[in-house]
Amino acid sequence: MAFSRRGNEVMVVDNYLHRRLALKHKMPPLVALPELPERCQIWKSVSGYEISHAIGDIQDFEFLEGIVADFKPDTIIHYAQQRSAPFSMKGIEEARLTLMNNITTTFNLIWAVMRHAPKAHIIKLGTLGEYGTPNIDIEEGWIDIEHKGRKDRMLYPRQGGSLYHTTKIHDTDLLWFYVRTYGLTVTDIMQGPVYGVVTDETENHPDLLTAFDYDDIYGTVVNRFVVQAVAGIPLTVYGKGGQTRGFLNIRDTMQAIVLVAENRPKTGEMRILNQFTEQFNISEIADKVCKAALSLGIEAKVAHLENPRLELEEHYYKAAVNKLAELGLKPTMLTEKVLREMLEYVKEHQHKIDKTLIMPRVRWSHALQHA
Ligand SMILES: NC(=O)c1ccc[n+]([C@@H]2O[C@H](COP(=O)([O-])OP(=O)(O)OC[C@H]3O[C@@H](n4cnc5c(N)ncnc54)[C@H](O)[C@@H]3O)[C@@H](O)[C@H]2O)c1
Repeated sequence: MAFSRRGNEVMVVDNYLHRRLALKHKMPPLVALPELPERCQIWKSVSGYEISHAIGDIQDFEFLEGIVADFKPDTIIHYAQQRSAPFSMKGIEEARLTLMNNITTTFNLIWAVMRHAPKAHIIKLGTLGEYGTPNIDIEEGWIDIEHKGRKDRMLYPRQGGSLYHTTKIHDTDLLWFYVRTYGLTVTDIMQGPVYGVVTDETENHPDLLTAFDYDDIYGTVVNRFVVQAVAGIPLTVYGKGGQTRGFLNIRDTMQAIVLVAENRPKTGEMRILNQFTEQFNISEIADKVCKAALSLGIEAKVAHLENPRLELEEHYYKAAVNKLAELGLKPTMLTEKVLREMLEYVKEHQHKIDKTLIMPRVRWSHALQHA
């Protein structure tokens, strides 16, 4: 929608993996959304712009190749992944689905582009979680290393905290291999966890919103805490709550993608950007949500649960984030006003909250027991 509004010819490809998994595991988003063809029609009626679509699996190379050969895109934005860390840690079936889906979609896209649109700019959604939580500063993609008196510039070391994050690391490696070998043009965006409800395009159109997930598997932490506050459930802080990450508003994800597409890297370059606006630890987020909730008369509490994940609960964290600002990104901060708007949106749909979806069901140690 953001690109179509700017006069670009846009096509969307999706196989409804997210919807199918949500249905199978009984974890629907807070509000049900129409399917893609209907959403494209609604967009046309509100904006006058047409977005074409194809429903199919990008793991099917012939399907994807046909689309790239016909459409001949200048830019391809690759979102198509199983993107839940807990899902990828549930058991062997979920782990295999995540591994095969995520690596195959990236691999097929690379080959479709090499064959039919070799000059296209691939914009890949990576994740800040690829870097893990090293005890040194995190750079934007690359690190200059001096070793035994010699220097080189290499991919910043990566160490994912879940299989999902590990598949994203594989993606970065695959892209870098094909960039340096065949001269593809790629931007890999290392994005932190996203929160929020609306973007400029969806603000007054509820049927055009993205899915607002709040369950333990699909929900990202700020959205989950907002729902928990409204539902009167103590906010589920895992362990000590000192886990620090870089967060961003959904509005800024769109802003960033548009900036990245409009400012291509050099042909044959692998550009890596970090994207988040603010670093917080989980306890700080819980406190912010409680404070915003109180300003609306909701008394929210915090519960420290046994941590279902294997992760450091207190650690050093300092990630560089300069390149998007240099391209002109105007950050949206996690203010009390922003949280109040989210709380108000959730309150409108309070009756739809399924309280059985709140507590963490996937433990990192379970994956082994169920394998
Ligand atoms: N949401 C976040 O906080 C966050 C943070 C960092 C990175 N990311 C990355 O951003 C991207 C988008 O995330 P999202 O939160 O919008 O997830 P999402 O699940 O809403 O979007 C991904 C879409 O890709 C589709 N898809 C998956 N596999 C496919 C396949 N084989 N063929 C066709 N379509 C397929 C899904 O059906 C879904 O509609 C992902 O790559 C994710 O790893 C997300």
